[in-house]
Amino acid sequence: MLAAARPFARRSAVRSVSLWANVPAGPPDPILGVSEAFKADPSPKKINLGVGAYRDENGKPYVLPSVKKAETILLANKVNKEYAPITGEPEFTKLAARLAYGEASTPLNENRIAVTQSISGTGALRVGGAFIARHYPRENRRIIYLPKPSWGNHTPLFRDSGLEVRGYRYFDKDTVGLDFKGLKEDLKDAPEGSIVLLHACAHNPTGIDPTPEQWKEISEIVKEKELFPFFDMAYQGFASGSPDKDAFAVRHFVSEGHQIALAQSFAKNMGLYGERVGAFSLVTGSPEERAKVDSQVKIVVRPMYSNPPIHGARIVSTILSTPDLHRQWEQEVKGMADRIISMREKLYDALTKDFATPGEWGHIKSQIGMFSFTGLTQPQTKALAEKASIYMTADGRISMAGLNSSNVQYFAESVHKAVTGQL
Ligand SMILES: Cc1ncc(COP(=O)(O)O)c(C=O)c1O
Repeated sequence: MLAAARPFARRSAVRSVSLWANVPAGPPDPILGVSEAFKADPSPKKINLGVGAYRDENGKPYVLPSVKKAETILLANKVNKEYAPITGEPEFTKLAARLAYGEASTPLNENRIAVTQSISGTGALRVGGAFIARHYPRENRRIIYLPKPSWGNHTPLFRDSGLEVRGYRYFDKDTVGLDFKGLKEDLKDAPEGSIVLLHACAHNPTGIDPTPEQWKEISEIVKEKELFPFFDMAYQGFASGSPDKDAFAVRHFVSEGHQIALAQSFAKNMGLYGERVGAFSLVTGSPEERAKVDSQVKIVVRPMYSNPPIHGARIVSTILSTPDLHRQWEQEVKGMADRIISMREKLYDALTKDFATPGEWGHIKSQIGMFSFTGLTQPQTKALAEKASIYMTADGRISMAGLNSSNVQYFAESVHKAVTGQL
């Protein structure tokens, strides 16, 4: 027994240095780090403005009543739990595309749009990135331009897809608005054929969108330079309260003949964050081409995750295909957008009227969607966290959804103190 045990003891001694001992610790996720600091703070006044998820008037996560009704219907229908096809539930992909492109969309009605269900918006971007890296035929096919700044996950996500990430000017620090001149210059200077990522609405993190007229100019430049437009539409309905209005840019580009790529998410507009339901689509030239593209999207998806989760997609399909529920959802998404818009007004009034805080705060009202780039500096955001228990990302981005009538006044007062050096 003893003799047999010894070689084993020697072997385990050799293994005492773990295989993964030299893996360096990665940096913490900047947004999740904000949530952790918030959780650990015992102050009853604490506010978390870091996370990009909607909160109701009481600061609580919100499950849409239309989603609850759809789940009741699904339960009553005793649906099974079989695998979905590789590119997802056909009913879902049809309805998701109709919501984005609109009933009157020519490529949709000509069956020229290849749509695949995805693991929410992130998965749509990732599948799209991988498909483009493999099949996009133009000379500069591996270069993707992102707005500066952009959603933090865009850069690693497209790099992991095999693309080279570059930036185009977007945010003007001086006006806290769109640097439209810089944007146009950078797109005109981009090598022909490059891919350009466009936030369809409610730009994250700045909350600043081009106007319809500016979108038209962008479309012209994209056409002239033969760039490839890849839209990220994570907030359809959430920006203005109208899914149709928020789809303006996407629909305009399509009507101008652009063969766009599109990533959709139902995380925000249906509150289905953890269900991970979204879609990736590509406008193709013909139904035959669509079928070939579909077959290649399947080849991208199959070794990644085989097929997508079914529950969230069924909720979306039930809502979008049941006229009463569809109408109810439209009211609910408008309710979320309107609550955010009213918080913008309250915050603006408190800063400018109640506290007469130095600075120009018009951007609080003119920005759109869940986020606002406040213009607060890094030392000010640090002081707000340490002295007032108010948490946001270090770049001064706040999620407007974290504000409500009980905390907006305290937030404005604390911002006033931070700006005037009283914290
Ligand atoms: C601009 C943008 N794109 C994509 C996403 C992806 O979100 P999800 O994967 O939860 O749908 C987000 C989420 O915050 C976002 O802000």
